[in-house]
Amino acid sequence: MPSFDHFDFLAPWYDRFIDSPPDDLFLSLVGAGVRRVLDAGGGTGRVSRQLQADGRWIALADSSIRMLRHAILAGDFGRVGSQTEQLPFAAGSFDCVLMVDALHHVQNQRQTLSELWRVLAPGGRLIIEEPDIQRLPVKLIALGEKLALMHSHFLTAEQIAGLLRGLGAEPVIQHKEHTLWVLADKPPA
Ligand SMILES: C[S@@+](CC[C@H](N)C(=O)[O-])C[C@H]1O[C@@H](n2cnc3c(N)ncnc32)[C@H](O)[C@@H]1O
Repeated sequence: MPSFDHFDFLAPWYDRFIDSPPDDLFLSLVGAGVRRVLDAGGGTGRVSRQLQADGRWIALADSSIRMLRHAILAGDFGRVGSQTEQLPFAAGSFDCVLMVDALHHVQNQRQTLSELWRVLAPGGRLIIEEPDIQRLPVKLIALGEKLALMHSHFLTAEQIAGLLRGLGAEPVIQHKEHTLWVLADKPPA
């Protein structure tokens, strides 16, 4: 029996209700000179549309085909219907891999992080952004998602960093208000 996908349902309204990130936030996190970017769980391209300049090629990988369909309105992306637990890309395909507000939605977070790290090229950067579950407003969102049967599972910054350390990464954690970032630069070959 086909299962209900919350994001297929939310896709037509998603960009109207979720604000865009602050100008240049991801440009500064991604850094200059980066060409091949994977936005994993990238949905409608809400975030990576900011990165569409300077000859960058951006691929969105998402399990919701309807979210990807709406990405066409946001720009010229490569779009791949895929679970982030098993990405259809060769090792080292991207100079930067980002996952924004999606890690708590995937079924297997350990496998997802392993895949994101695998497809990242030596010298590249992995960027994970998540709502900070240690903050009260995010705990309330988590409760709402539980009631909506979204099966979300929020990790703390330290838990994400711990999983990445298990892959040999040396992650750095940043926090601002209700958001956390875990950044990991892959050593050059
Ligand atoms: C809250 S949305 C965030 C979308 C986008 N990153 C943004 O910030 O606008 C979460 C996205 O993760 C996707 N997603 C959930 N589980 C996934 C999985 N296992 N593999 C790929 N995408 C997944 C959903 O379809 C949805 O588009």
